[in-house]
Amino acid sequence: EKGGYDYFMLKEIAEQPKAVADTLLGRIDASGSLTLDEVRIPASVLREVDKVVLVACGTAYHAGMIAKLAIEHWTRIPCETELASEFRYRDPILDQRTLVIAISQSGETMDTLMAVRHAREQGAKVLAICNTNGSTIPRESDAVLYTHAGPEVAVASTKAFLTQLVACYLVALYLGQVRGTKWGDEIRAVIRELSDIAAAVDTVLETMEPVRALARSLAEKNTVLFLGRHVGYPVALEGALKLKELAYMHAEGFAAGELKHGPIALIEKDLPVVVVVPSPRGRSVLHDKIVSNIQEIRARGARTIVIAEEGDEAVVPYADHLIRIPATPTLLQPLVATVPLQVFACELATARGNEVDQPRNLAKSVTVE
Ligand code: M6R
Repeated sequence: EKGGYDYFMLKEIAEQPKAVADTLLGRIDASGSLTLDEVRIPASVLREVDKVVLVACGTAYHAGMIAKLAIEHWTRIPCETELASEFRYRDPILDQRTLVIAISQSGETMDTLMAVRHAREQGAKVLAICNTNGSTIPRESDAVLYTHAGPEVAVASTKAFLTQLVACYLVALYLGQVRGTKWGDEIRAVIRELSDIAAAVDTVLETMEPVRALARSLAEKNTVLFLGRHVGYPVALEGALKLKELAYMHAEGFAAGELKHGPIALIEKDLPVVVVVPSPRGRSVLHDKIVSNIQEIRARGARTIVIAEEGDEAVVPYADHLIRIPATPTLLQPLVATVPLQVFACELATARGNEVDQPRNLAKSVTVE
């Protein structure tokens, strides 16, 4: 049932273009608008929402961090993302106009379920983004948008993450669509671009052999750092989480702008540092700042592993290893930038002789608080 792959994780990484396409299927109509009738929260209710709170754990939390940027940009509704395990213990401010979005692959994560219960007790509306039909979190929510990743068996989440992102973008764009914002043209353009995104993920998968070779060459290292900004920051956190859980290596993700506030002291000769570079189009200021960061860490001896958009020539002089990804709209970049990090972690785990699908101490779904 591993479909010819050595591990479920490899199979699930390879299934991502289909998982992404399936999650979009039937949700964009012929005129290029979103139809999310299945969500069953009336547009009139969505127009009244004055705050969005995303709750999730682990990889799903990283999807939530990216969703915050998309929701705030496209809808101008204030939005926060919170670890589900912290949420109800801090007396969060919630009322009937708050939309809580709970993201969970399994739909059974106890921390997330408890956050959902707490939110509903306070009168908030809860929308679940979930991959498992009929599981507890969607059953206890007001509404659900299912991701169509198919069953995810490997403990490390891959295709579920990409489909969670797609679902979050759909919710963000849909909220923008029903409420009408100044970004109407951009929203329509991004909906069009979403239709091509599965092909972009496929392109990344076809070019992963150098990433695998690089991972094998780093099998003896103790630490890998990951840097990113804007949507690249949660991608950096996700790359680090994958490496921890699969390769049992010390890995940390930082917002690149924080380097000079402390983490740069960690940089030493030959330390591998993965940098997720924003598009030079779009938020070009961020791009230029991150190129300076790469220069700075390389001057201090770091081995730079740079993930950058096709055609971005500014990074070339400072990249010891360059991983190319297709150009996408800024907010969609995580869909392509995360894939090399999944492959990297999986290959490092194999090279270190670890059990890829069942990492030590971990369970696929965490049903205790
Ligand atoms: O089933 P869920 O999406 O609620 O699970 C949340 C986390 O436990 C999960 O994403 C975990 O972090 C993964 N093992 C990461 O690969």
